[in-house]
Amino acid sequence: MIGFEKYLTKPELYAPGTDNFWDDEHISKGLLEAHLDPDLDAATRKHDFLNRSVDWISKVAPPSQYRFLLDLGCGPGLYAERFSRAGYIVTGVDMSRRSIAYAKEQSLRNGSRIDYLCRDYLSIDYVELFDVVTLIYCDYGALSRKDRIVLLEKVYQALKPGGKFIFDVFTPQMRKKESRSWHFSGKGGFWSEKPYLCLEAVYQYDDEDSTELRRYIVMTEDAVKCYNIWDHFFTREALLSEARGIGFNAFEFYGDVAGKEYSDTGETICGVYTR
Ligand SMILES: C[S@@+](CC[C@H](N)C(=O)[O-])C[C@H]1O[C@@H](n2cnc3c(N)ncnc32)[C@H](O)[C@@H]1O
Repeated sequence: MIGFEKYLTKPELYAPGTDNFWDDEHISKGLLEAHLDPDLDAATRKHDFLNRSVDWISKVAPPSQYRFLLDLGCGPGLYAERFSRAGYIVTGVDMSRRSIAYAKEQSLRNGSRIDYLCRDYLSIDYVELFDVVTLIYCDYGALSRKDRIVLLEKVYQALKPGGKFIFDVFTPQMRKKESRSWHFSGKGGFWSEKPYLCLEAVYQYDDEDSTELRRYIVMTEDAVKCYNIWDHFFTREALLSEARGIGFNAFEFYGDVAGKEYSDTGETICGVYTR
């Protein structure tokens, strides 16, 4: 047993993994494939939803009036290209080198002149440059409370007065039960190009943020890697209470980022905060 305990016990809150999930050399290939599959709700939502989402955002913040758009966590640029076609001048930020390389290639091919940056969106420092900032597919909830406040302050600073922050989150309905399971991939697969055994666990924490961890321990013949994916779930009231001190002037809530009506029993909430 000696040495194995660390893989089998619940880690401390926010214990780091060994590798970054989004920017991993091998995993990012599978993630890019998932992004590009139009019928998959995985790294991005189904592409039909993306079309409806961009149509709706273009009504909430018409590009004729809200020209400059910053897409945080833009991935391979699926939203960014659509925003550009809708008439926005777009900047995209993502930490995945593979996604940004793909996005830049597409932009060149399409002549969409989107400005892409490969960096952590917690390190942006724009001042009153954008009319719209988007953060789509529930990335807000991946951040700790401390980092969410940092992000809200940076978004507020990046927006022009009257500008809008549009984002979505999962509600507590989407919280998972604690569980542990494993699977073996004899030919390699999503987690590694080599044969691997993956130990998967879901842990819940009783901290004030009701944090959830999905942990994947990937064992190959010559290495063990650990990926920790943290998540948080929100009610409308919880979103409001953490955003109130930042300075936004108005808050609207919807059921999703394509403009569905807000419901107390929905799986997602979309926030539209006006500076
Ligand atoms: C769930 S995907 C959503 C992608 C895109 N918004 C969409 O809906 O198609 C999350 C994206 O955020 C990026 N990401 C996660 N954390 C980030 C961070 N701290 N800084 C920049 N990008 C980040 C990931 O690389 C990934 O492309």
